[in-house]
Amino acid sequence: MIKCENYLRYFKNYSDKFFQEVDLDSQYRVKLKIEHTLKVVKLMRTLAKEAGLTGEDYEIAKVIALFHDFGRFNQLKLYGHFNDRLSLNHAEESVSEMKRLNILDIAGSEYVTEDKKELIYNAILYHNKDHAEFEKIKDKRLKMFAGLIRDCDKIDIYRSVAKYYGDQSPEDFFRAMQLQKSFDVSEEVYDKIMNLEALKRDDIITLGDDIIWDFYWVISDMNFPESLKLLKEKGYFEEMFNKFVASGKFKYEGDAKELYDFIYEEFCKRVENGTL
Ligand SMILES: [Fe+2]
Repeated sequence: MIKCENYLRYFKNYSDKFFQEVDLDSQYRVKLKIEHTLKVVKLMRTLAKEAGLTGEDYEIAKVIALFHDFGRFNQLKLYGHFNDRLSLNHAEESVSEMKRLNILDIAGSEYVTEDKKELIYNAILYHNKDHAEFEKIKDKRLKMFAGLIRDCDKIDIYRSVAKYYGDQSPEDFFRAMQLQKSFDVSEEVYDKIMNLEALKRDDIITLGDDIIWDFYWVISDMNFPESLKLLKEKGYFEEMFNKFVASGKFKYEGDAKELYDFIYEEFCKRVENGTL
């Protein structure tokens, strides 16, 4: 049976070694990614149990969480940042690095069948795709595992954005994201959110769009009602809002205010009703 703890040891050795080999500036970024990974594994423990996973499925869910961002290390080494738009698809990199190092075979204590490997790889690939792509998954098992990692990842993104967002200068952020330096929300993004339609990466034009998109995930891109409950309990969503407003990077007025209020109200309603 696959056991996550074996892989955890491998991950810790790999990430520690990586940390030692990079410069100080990169060490900070590596630390954030290690912290994110371990928090996502922790969230997965809770969410997978709530979703009724036991035995090996429970272990597989944690292994997916552990390696979902594994490609971030190479991405940082090759490009010096974590922006997929300007470098590579980090989920694809996670999978190719896992295959190159043959991690699933060498780090575990038992033989891992090809179908289990495929399940793990595909769930990792799907954690970084648009919601519309995820929706097209036909295989129920893959959809469940991919849904779990997507939710855990997003819950922790709310935490990390709330914690670290202000640390980066706005200029760096604009440059890295190649977005229009405007806090206004584009008309199309406004309409789509108000009609509860899915947003795609290409819809995001301004920084205002990007921020409201992050908030919008909570009602457009979560897969388990327990995820919403967990997020509400942790308070990350509210923390992120406060952090954005305090940093001056989110203007809580006009269209943005209207959208945020709409999203937050929906979020609270769904938590209360235990629905998505
Ligand atoms: Fe990721």
